[in-house]
Amino acid sequence: MKYYIKTFGCQMNVYDSQRIARILQNMGHSPADTPAGADLIIFNTCHIREKAAEKLFSDLGRINLIKEERKAAGLETIIGVVGCVVQAEDEEIAKRAPFVNFATGPLTYYRIPEILQKIARDKNICIIDTDFPAESKFDHLPENRSEGSCSYLAVQEGCNNFCTYCIVPYTRGVETSRPVEEVLKEARRLVETGTLEINLLGQNVNAYHGEDNTGKERDLAYLLRRLAEIDGLKRLRYTTSYPADVNDDLIACHRDLKKLMPYLHLPLQSGSDKILKAMNRRHDRNQYLEIIGRLKDANPEIGFSSDFIVGFPGETDEDFADTLDMVEKVGYIQAFSFKYSRRPGTPAAVYPDQIPEKIKAERLNILQEKLFSMQLSFNKECIGKIMPVLFESKGRKKGQLFGRTPYMQNLHAQTDGAGLNQILPVRITGATVNSLSGTVIQQ
Ligand code: SAH
Ligand code: SF4
Ligand code: F3S
Repeated sequence: MKYYIKTFGCQMNVYDSQRIARILQNMGHSPADTPAGADLIIFNTCHIREKAAEKLFSDLGRINLIKEERKAAGLETIIGVVGCVVQAEDEEIAKRAPFVNFATGPLTYYRIPEILQKIARDKNICIIDTDFPAESKFDHLPENRSEGSCSYLAVQEGCNNFCTYCIVPYTRGVETSRPVEEVLKEARRLVETGTLEINLLGQNVNAYHGEDNTGKERDLAYLLRRLAEIDGLKRLRYTTSYPADVNDDLIACHRDLKKLMPYLHLPLQSGSDKILKAMNRRHDRNQYLEIIGRLKDANPEIGFSSDFIVGFPGETDEDFADTLDMVEKVGYIQAFSFKYSRRPGTPAAVYPDQIPEKIKAERLNILQEKLFSMQLSFNKECIGKIMPVLFESKGRKKGQLFGRTPYMQNLHAQTDGAGLNQILPVRITGATVNSLSGTVIQQ
């Protein structure tokens, strides 16, 4: 069969989609360029905000039209849904999209081969699997290989934090960590097959507590130090971190490990102590600023990014002003910001004092204007500097390469075509909010 996978949501979903593609390739299937050319279409879904989930249903409607058109041409199409929406809305899927052949949650997609066998025997069945299995999915996945020079590697999954707005603990389940040796093995294999940069993933990655060979629990700092020893691996990153779980040794890694990039995504969500408490975040403004200060002491070059939610229930103008104040104090080089979205089943969905849509939109505008202008000034400050860039793909224009600076900035450079999958020094010549341009310095 030809398969087509469409991915929504976070980096963990991107990683899962790559693993699904590997499962399918091992079964002898190959990728299609378009959904219309695919016998198997899989949607890997996200449930983080209402819009994300709603979009799935409109996209599924469009895919069903393709299924119908293919049917008229005598072709069968299997449609599958995986990811976080399945865990939260399995009944909705069965009701609103009865043409879906299977749906399986983010922890059980390793069962896709069995599912496809069942469907091969009976085309009319609909299989829905929302199990939280006792065993680790990683024990059942085929060996991972590089897709290019930058790879994600999931080391931790699930979350025990239960922020009151967040659906993730309900869709990805409780927190689990992969054993140290298993992670090291996957990392070595990725490096052998072309990876130069590894981005360690987890919903709360710095809660990592995997066992080593002696059964001792190890933290993320230990894992980073072991990974940094791998010859041929040039860059390390990790995401997403939870501020209250940043420990001393993790901070020390930012001082000691040259391979660890000077960039950290450390979501603050809100700058108001009252709102942080209502969100059930285990840190306040001062604790967050203290962690930032210690990280800067460990590595003065470090840059920070964050996620923000505006319009959480009960957020007043003063609370919002506190968020703007924290943005100013920390000086983020990048950030993502969202309007609070009610997620059914989470505590905050039924809090009183829900904020009107109009106010959420106003606050988001004000915050984003500030964040974008800070991002632009950081990018502009880079003009004239020489930065090492890992070129991970070809750009749209002929001879153009796309890469990332140590700060995760997007960079485009015009070259004679050489330089793909290499880290090269680049003189920065131009900057916009979202990207840099530059010229490779001939060595
Ligand atoms: N585990 C990560 C990120 C989880 S989701 C963390 O703890 O930071 C990514 C971001 O989506 C969150 O950081 C948060 O800013 C946003 N988010 C989560 N739930 C949301 C909701 N109900 N409404 C709006 N934004 C939300
Ligand atoms: Fe969600 Fe909070 Fe866990 Fe992040 S830390 S995944 S926001 S519950
Ligand atoms: Fe979305 Fe699930 Fe990731 S809800 S953000 S795909 S963990």
